[in-house]
Amino acid sequence: MATQTPNPPLPLRQNAGVDTPRQRNNDSVTPAQTPEPTPPPAGDLTLKAEAKNLHFHYGKYQALKGVSLPIYKNRITALIGPSGCGKSTFLRCFNRMHDLYPNSRYQGDIRLYPDDINLVGPGIDPIAVRMRISMVFQKPNPFPKSIYENVAFSLRLRGGASRSTIDAEVEKALRGAALWDECKDRLHEPANKLSGGQQQRLCIARSLASHPEIILFDEPTSALDPKATRRIEELATDLKSRMTIIIVTHNMQQAARMSDYTAFMYLGELVEFGPTPRVFQTPAKQLTDEYISGRFG
Ligand SMILES: Nc1ncnc2c1ncn2[C@@H]1O[C@H](COP(=O)(O)OP(=O)(O)O)[C@@H](O)[C@H]1O
Ligand SMILES: [Mg+2]
Repeated sequence: MATQTPNPPLPLRQNAGVDTPRQRNNDSVTPAQTPEPTPPPAGDLTLKAEAKNLHFHYGKYQALKGVSLPIYKNRITALIGPSGCGKSTFLRCFNRMHDLYPNSRYQGDIRLYPDDINLVGPGIDPIAVRMRISMVFQKPNPFPKSIYENVAFSLRLRGGASRSTIDAEVEKALRGAALWDECKDRLHEPANKLSGGQQQRLCIARSLASHPEIILFDEPTSALDPKATRRIEELATDLKSRMTIIIVTHNMQQAARMSDYTAFMYLGELVEFGPTPRVFQTPAKQLTDEYISGRFG
């Protein structure tokens, strides 16, 4: 009998030579070709991902225009900018969410390290990408299932895990999302009985259950009160020791409080990127200065 290996990275290439349905349900598969790992160091920082000249179209409309941006491992990168400038579009490229809609078109690269593959390139399995790079949305969106089943979802999708493994993983994910103590006695109640802040932490737990390497947060606290907001911020800060985080936020205080790096976008382009204190205290571009000081947006 196969031993449980709960988190080997899923092969991302659709034609990785292991892509029969039976094998895809087997946790112990490894890609037939292992790409040469190239973790490019940058000082004491490691790149986890890197957008390189990324363009994105919704049909004829170009929403991203040549965005190049490093994403550092175990750091929080904040994406800021006025509404409609392409922050969510950029974030959704990372887990191939746009593939769910026809007529979307990626050009350029998002390199994922250490695999050194192009996430938006041809031949990449979007489902496998979403297991390794998960997303938490603005409005908590638990499935119409129990608390337990929400968290167990990705484990069941992967298949092969025993009941006791799933129980343990559910507990671990709920603890990781700082929700266990509040719901351990009501795991089989419907998720929609939880408060908004709890539902958002449940969505984080659901993401954590697939052991993602990157979590994408798209304005995760904009529907929450200040107390629930702070909890999510603290949680994200705790999680970064284990994963890499990208967060879109309209809240400048939030970006300044929780992020290590800030990227300012405008009209589908990256205007400025740097360490958060530097971007906020001495922005290099006048446009950044005007935006963070509230003169537009
Ligand atoms: N599904 C879509 N189809 C067509 N255009 C879209 C779609 N989603 C977003 N857009 C457009 O792309 C641009 C960037 O949107 P978005 O990434 O949501 O911006 P932000 O998150 O910065 O507010 C906007 O002009 C928006 O209208
Ligand atoms: Mg958005």
